[in-house]
Amino acid sequence: MKASITAHKDFTVANIDPRLYGSFIEHLGRAIYTGIYEPDHPSADEQGFRQDVIELIKEIDVPVTRYPGGNFVSSYNWEDGIGPKENRPTRLDLAWHTSENNAVGIHEFANWAEKVGTEMMLAVNLGSRGLDEARSFLEYVNHPGGSYWSDLRKHNGREDPWNVKLWCLGNEMDGPWQIGQKTADEYGRLAFETAKAMRAFDKNIELVVCGSSSPMMDSYPDWESTVLDYTYDTVDYISLHMYFENNSLHMYFENNDSNATHYLAKAEQLEHYIETVAAVIKTTKAKKRSDHDVFISFDEWNVWYHSREQDKAILEGADGWPQAPALLEDIYDFADTLQVACILNTFIRHSDVVKIGCMAQLVNVIAPIMTVEGGPAWRQTIFYPYMYASRYGRGTALNLAVNCERYDTDFATQVPYLDVSCVQSDDDGSLAFFIVNRHASEEIEFDIALEGFEHHTVIEDKVISGYDLSQTNSPQAETVIPQEGTRISLVDQRLNATIEPLSYRMIRLSL
Ligand code: AHR
Repeated sequence: MKASITAHKDFTVANIDPRLYGSFIEHLGRAIYTGIYEPDHPSADEQGFRQDVIELIKEIDVPVTRYPGGNFVSSYNWEDGIGPKENRPTRLDLAWHTSENNAVGIHEFANWAEKVGTEMMLAVNLGSRGLDEARSFLEYVNHPGGSYWSDLRKHNGREDPWNVKLWCLGNEMDGPWQIGQKTADEYGRLAFETAKAMRAFDKNIELVVCGSSSPMMDSYPDWESTVLDYTYDTVDYISLHMYFENNSLHMYFENNDSNATHYLAKAEQLEHYIETVAAVIKTTKAKKRSDHDVFISFDEWNVWYHSREQDKAILEGADGWPQAPALLEDIYDFADTLQVACILNTFIRHSDVVKIGCMAQLVNVIAPIMTVEGGPAWRQTIFYPYMYASRYGRGTALNLAVNCERYDTDFATQVPYLDVSCVQSDDDGSLAFFIVNRHASEEIEFDIALEGFEHHTVIEDKVISGYDLSQTNSPQAETVIPQEGTRISLVDQRLNATIEPLSYRMIRLSL
């Protein structure tokens, strides 16, 4: 099969906010304890953080990390995690049916974030608590001193404020599973009043209001419309979440080739979701005669289904209240590598409206990085498309014209077999193409016309290809890894290459 692509220098989508490649760490399962924090681990630093994990996170280069939840935040008291560790209470976490000893709180997370080189994105509890807790937390974190909460922070060992810019107004408040779930009207009012109070403290912080927790929610997209009606001029982003399963509507698929083609069409649902919410934002802006802009913070996304069955006992309480049990430990396969690449391509192509993205999550919990307690840290199959997008997807997204054959599924029509995005680096002008072939049996020979560019050298060409779709990595063997690409030419501003069936390819060109 053949495909042709045109990239024109002046045909752009947007300048990408680097925070599009963010992530998320929740007090859930082993994300924190034995994930990023394990004082007895051989690689732990003086503060108890696993340096082997920090090194892997640095390979990805994660610009922003959302914390402390997720569902966890909706019954969390942030004050439990400050002060001497021996005085911190153990609480029962109602979201994940586990015990939380609060050994890690805001100070520890901030220290870790500094080591990793990631910006903090903090969520306030609008489930079991509300405005008062939010304003105290903000004062504790961001006020220089001379007030009750800021002086308590100093007393607890942190002199300077952390000046956190990004704040989430609760989490998934539309979800029946959420502690303190609200109707759109209840949440819209509360979010507005909380935003107003937080802005009274600092009008320059950036606020994220909850949108739908999935496009499958019955309340979607009325939820967005109602919530934005209350909050439009006081918030900067509306948060969306979406998790992908390798299934049709009612059953999981066997991992065979034609099912993978179907699975990989799911990014089309993501595209529809983004475009619908972008339309709601525009409509609300017009209704309010506002000159303020609201963007999308896609602050939870990933594949999540492999671990659902094995997690049932803990989530239903059959195991009591374990501390840091293995939960949501999806072991990803090669099909998921391709799915994650398609999701990231969708974000890049919509980077005019999606400004923040958080892969959920970062370590052990539906994560690209896994750890063995007392043992090694290792990269899952989904690590690489995330790493390449984060490293080379910063700059200006191009609006490509892509001509190739298409297919239909029971939930999407006219899905192009070739999924592609392209970013021009603001630093050195290099071009990065991120490409997935969704076809089960045919390779695609593609020809890219580079118009208005003067790129002459292929500086990097990586493929992830040829694996069984069920192939996974493990602590013993990282099997699914990038290899050098072959069969590529760049002559007279025309790039020609071939991508194998069900494969990923990342190509970088320099000036
Ligand atoms: O990321 C796992 C969970 O998924 C989060 O806690 C919640 O926000 C979502 O439902």
